[in-house]
Amino acid sequence: MPQLPKGKSTSKLKVLGIAGSPRRDGNTDLLLREVMAGAASQRAQIKIVILSELNISPCRHCDGCLKTGKCVIDDDMQWLHTDLKEADRLVLASPIFFMGVTAQTKAMIDRCQALWVIKYVLKLPLATNTSKERKGIFVSVGGTKLSNLFQPAITTVKSWFTTLDISYDGELVFSGIDEKDAIIRHPTALKDAFATGRQLVPSTLKE
Ligand SMILES: Cc1cc2nc3c(=O)[nH]c(=O)nc-3n(C[C@H](O)[C@H](O)[C@H](O)COP(=O)(O)O)c2cc1C
Repeated sequence: MPQLPKGKSTSKLKVLGIAGSPRRDGNTDLLLREVMAGAASQRAQIKIVILSELNISPCRHCDGCLKTGKCVIDDDMQWLHTDLKEADRLVLASPIFFMGVTAQTKAMIDRCQALWVIKYVLKLPLATNTSKERKGIFVSVGGTKLSNLFQPAITTVKSWFTTLDISYDGELVFSGIDEKDAIIRHPTALKDAFATGRQLVPSTLKE
């Protein structure tokens, strides 16, 4: 029987895509779909969640999670916490709204305070499968072409990934993209997105 490299398994890599725009079928939705199609072409197990269709309240800072690591608010964040713990790859897609991520995305990020408690207060492992390195990327667009357009959002995403024990593997971002389907007219964006998705999943061992 062939030996697998130490710490590797044959199970498919789980790639979780999070759509953070309130505009369905908009620019970041289209990019996310291509990234996920690229990952699926490498035989990864993919799942996309659409935040604007979920019921996710903002964090109340009630400290209800402080002793248990479980959020007291009973909404869609309960199962999304599980998905976030199980993902081997995370693709967060959010357009830039007032120099940051969208309200839907930020509410979801803030609700990960319960996971922050698990990691930093209870000092317990977060990831369900600790044998695989967890990686994530940020996908974004903005209507303007400001030189620092993505920096505040990237800082937020990096902070969130650190809490989730996910290493930041880079970003796929496009400025000057404002109209709903402007990304389709970009010369390379959708192809870039597919290639990015492929690269997320190792080609030698499609875990
Ligand atoms: C509330 C709001 C705030 C926005 N703020 C910015 C901004 O700060 N900088 C920017 O370049 N574009 C901003 N935009 C433009 C969006 O980033 C742009 O339209 C983008 O293409 C939307 O992506 P989507 O189609 O994935 O929703 C804003 C749009 C809205 C609706």
